[in-house]
Amino acid sequence: MKTEKCLELIGALHCDALLLLNESNMHYLCGFSPSEGVVLLLKSGVCYHIVDSRYTETAQKHAEKTGLTVIEIHAKFADTVSEICKANQIKSIAFENETISLKSYKLYMQATQCAFTGIDNRLMQIRNIKTDAEIEMMVKANEIAEKSFTELLNHVKAGKTEKELQSYFDYLMAKNGSDGLSFSTILLSGANTSLPHGVPGDRTIQNGDFVLFDFGATYKGYHSDMTRTVAVGSATDEMKEMYYLVLKAQLAGINALKSGAKCADVYRAAYNVLEERNMGRYFRHALGHGVGLDIHEGFSSSPNSSDIYEAGNVTSVEPGIYIPDKFGIRIEDVCVVTDDGCKNISTIDKNLIIL
Ligand code: GLY
Ligand code: MN
Ligand code: MN
Repeated sequence: MKTEKCLELIGALHCDALLLLNESNMHYLCGFSPSEGVVLLLKSGVCYHIVDSRYTETAQKHAEKTGLTVIEIHAKFADTVSEICKANQIKSIAFENETISLKSYKLYMQATQCAFTGIDNRLMQIRNIKTDAEIEMMVKANEIAEKSFTELLNHVKAGKTEKELQSYFDYLMAKNGSDGLSFSTILLSGANTSLPHGVPGDRTIQNGDFVLFDFGATYKGYHSDMTRTVAVGSATDEMKEMYYLVLKAQLAGINALKSGAKCADVYRAAYNVLEERNMGRYFRHALGHGVGLDIHEGFSSSPNSSDIYEAGNVTSVEPGIYIPDKFGIRIEDVCVVTDDGCKNISTIDKNLIIL
């Protein structure tokens, strides 16, 4: 089905072949992410996965499932691509104009002597609609992340440093089956939580702190993404009120999600809740983003977005407020958009936890 969609793309652009160098696009068709390689899909339907000797065996194992034809290069990737093009009378190639380097573009143009047509975001639009199999892998990634987070909570207490807990969490993710991390784990405490993407440091957690965890596992190339904010020891009335305001905003965003909804409107649904308490100005990023083979992909739910949700989109919903020198709160789930709403992949309870 993925190959058929790409063949439609080749047809729509009136090209003879599709050349993929981008790791995530390659993964989409060949089932894994070599650090270097090429996928060349011909309009005849034959799909070559061109690799060097480091990846031949792995590529062949995946090809048993995907049906791709694995070719090991004998010199340079561009030479092999050029030979295949000549042997198959390929004259025009659709290529990843949004992600290819200028150097690679020139290299493949010169090597193949073909006409090149940019695919713009067409392959991303195809990837935006997840198959059931892809969603299953994202559910699995999320399960690993949630299990690790639940185990970590037993160790979160006053006296521990952010870095200490971050490194233990990363160990738990590996122990529980994560192939890697979606991104460097964000684990912040106290006033540091007002930094939306702060880096864990040597600060020691104190009673009365918020601790913010933003984390994700990867499973077979697919990412999870979740944020939870908990209090340690105690929480003031203000902390509780603000926490539940952010949660109300998140639920409003999730309730507004459905196929056909504008991303900007879903953003506003959440923002308007924060504005009920004049807190909108402290929400300083998009409400969500596509998630899949990349941690941020496809579309963004920001006030200026012209994107519209479609069934099969997988998106984060992550409102937050960040009050400098005081505290920050973010709550993030990942949801699958359906015709009449959405299905939340994340399952961890969102009532305020006071450890
Ligand atoms: N930490 C990445 C994100 O939530 O978007
Ligand atoms: Mn996140
Ligand atoms: Mn996110």
